[in-house]
Amino acid sequence: MKYILVTGGVVSGLGKGVTASSIGVLLKACGVRVTSIKIDPYLNVDAGTMSPLEHGEVFVLDDGGEADLDLGNYERFLDLSLSRDNNLTTGKVYQSVIERERRGDYLGKTVQVVPHITNEIQDWIERVAHVSVDGSGQLPEVCVIELGGTVGDIESMPFVEALRQFQFRVGAGNFCVVHVSLVPVIGAVGEQKTKPTQHSVATLRSLGLNPSLLACRSSEPLGDSVREKLASFCHVRPEQVLTMHDVSNIWRVPLMLEAQGAHKTVCSALGLEAAAARADLHRWRTGLADKWDALVTPVRIALVGKYVELMDAYLSVTKALQHACLAANRRLQLEIVESEHLVAPGEGEATHSQDEHAAAWAALRSADGVLVPGGFGGRGTEGKILAARHAREGGVPYFGICLGMQIAVIEFARSVLGLAGANSTEWDAASPDPVVVFMPEISVTHKGGTMRLGARRVLLETSDCVTAKLYQAEREIQERYRHRYEINPEYVERMEAAGLRFVGRDETGARMGVLELRDHPFYVAAQFHPEFKSRPFKASPFFLGLILAASGQLNTFLSGRATPVSSPVKRRATDAAAHKQQLDGTIHAAFQNLAVQEKQ
Ligand SMILES: *[C@@H]1O[C@H](CO)[C@@H](O)[C@H](O)[C@H]1NC(C)=O
Ligand SMILES: *[C@@H]1O[C@H](CO)[C@@H](O)[C@H](O)[C@H]1NC(C)=O
Repeated sequence: MKYILVTGGVVSGLGKGVTASSIGVLLKACGVRVTSIKIDPYLNVDAGTMSPLEHGEVFVLDDGGEADLDLGNYERFLDLSLSRDNNLTTGKVYQSVIERERRGDYLGKTVQVVPHITNEIQDWIERVAHVSVDGSGQLPEVCVIELGGTVGDIESMPFVEALRQFQFRVGAGNFCVVHVSLVPVIGAVGEQKTKPTQHSVATLRSLGLNPSLLACRSSEPLGDSVREKLASFCHVRPEQVLTMHDVSNIWRVPLMLEAQGAHKTVCSALGLEAAAARADLHRWRTGLADKWDALVTPVRIALVGKYVELMDAYLSVTKALQHACLAANRRLQLEIVESEHLVAPGEGEATHSQDEHAAAWAALRSADGVLVPGGFGGRGTEGKILAARHAREGGVPYFGICLGMQIAVIEFARSVLGLAGANSTEWDAASPDPVVVFMPEISVTHKGGTMRLGARRVLLETSDCVTAKLYQAEREIQERYRHRYEINPEYVERMEAAGLRFVGRDETGARMGVLELRDHPFYVAAQFHPEFKSRPFKASPFFLGLILAASGQLNTFLSGRATPVSSPVKRRATDAAAHKQQLDGTIHAAFQNLAVQEKQ
């Protein structure tokens, strides 16, 4: 097993995670099997209790582990399924050392940060790196370790020391360091300043870690003289200094690294020279980076939510929409709609203006498709219900996730079944018609809260539904859950009779997983979170369904006969044939991907 440690300097938030996962992509493109570990020097034990407002999205893993968007990034970039152990925190390490101390494992010795905590960190890394994560059953060859924070922080010291020792444990040629740093531009002439990077490399070296690569974030490519200066002051060769400037889309980052020979440097530091020669990023370039920039025909999706000011909270949803747009050849136009603004001003606790109200409705009305993602109840739910109603009555494609499914059910109960007081017990305990209720057996306390979490089977009631066709599955699918409330089974029969079909359920048949509305172009909602399993080359079926429906391609796609017809686009004539070919390829690939995904 070989290890690449990715550290950060100067400031946080430089895109260390993207750099680390891009290096993973490069290695994968060289035919190397990769896994990854994210170290967060926090005392929290998992991300479940953290506020999405402060912390961005909570990303759910197959095993029910609650992580943050970094592990999501790794899973998407590297097409892996990680576990909660791939996120190592100070809290987890201390917890395990203290438990062992209580058990008497240390035979009454004094337990200290060095060596007990540092050994525990090294053992953890070795153990977790030796787990197959790509579905092949084969062990990874290289583990990319991202160390959160910046070197020199008090918090990360035990980890830095553990990793310093670790390089000797695994031996020369099995360990290298990539340091991500910042080259700010200062002054009227826009001079690129190397000093912060020099200092952070000096700190890194003083802690016993020597970088094989310096990845320098800057808005523009580094000038040659800047690169040479960095090389000489930081004691590396010029080719070890990479420029990481701003690019048009995130998928360009691995290509940018490849163009500078990063894979060669890393592979030679790890004794994998033969692999470097095999690097092939063709699919990544044509299927993602170039393709994304070349998409023309727009599709407008309204994302109706509450934390909208905080795009991070919906990062996986946005990514899944992007994957679907790549597969469906559409340029994503995301309309962010603040759900509270959909309610008329003056009603309830609403405090927004008439203009905001009008703008929200204009955005919603102009959308080709509506997406209500997961979230918490309370404020803003009445607005989401209005959005669901707009989509249902207007024949606008709708996709609801988790709370978005409960919203669809409440709306249906109120408008179609005539149960005016229908509500969720989450925010209205006294509702006369509680169509959404707390899950009774979930009240066992799980670390960080009470939730039904992780990958579960969803059994399909029939293969004659959009879900089965999109997933290319007859009997069952598997997706990741994170919820506390569910559809009240007592109302299911009445809703089904009125046209709302619950086509996916758990093994007992009493817990609803997927709903579909009859006689509507696309009105689908899921209790699970399909966004967590969406991958750039394997768009999540429901997201693909939404985009296809919103762009008038769904029926053609489902009938499987022809490829979607692209609407007239402003394209040079010479590109047309190539574009057509690309289009056909994508849709076939989309089908194949769905089939492959199903087999796994
Ligand atoms: C790992 O867990 C910690 C503690 O809960 C959390 O703060 C962090 O965001 C998690 N990191 C990842 C990559 O999931
Ligand atoms: C549902 O509950 C919310 C929160 O208590 C409340 O504001 C709303 O009026 C209720 N809706 C109906 C139709 O009872």
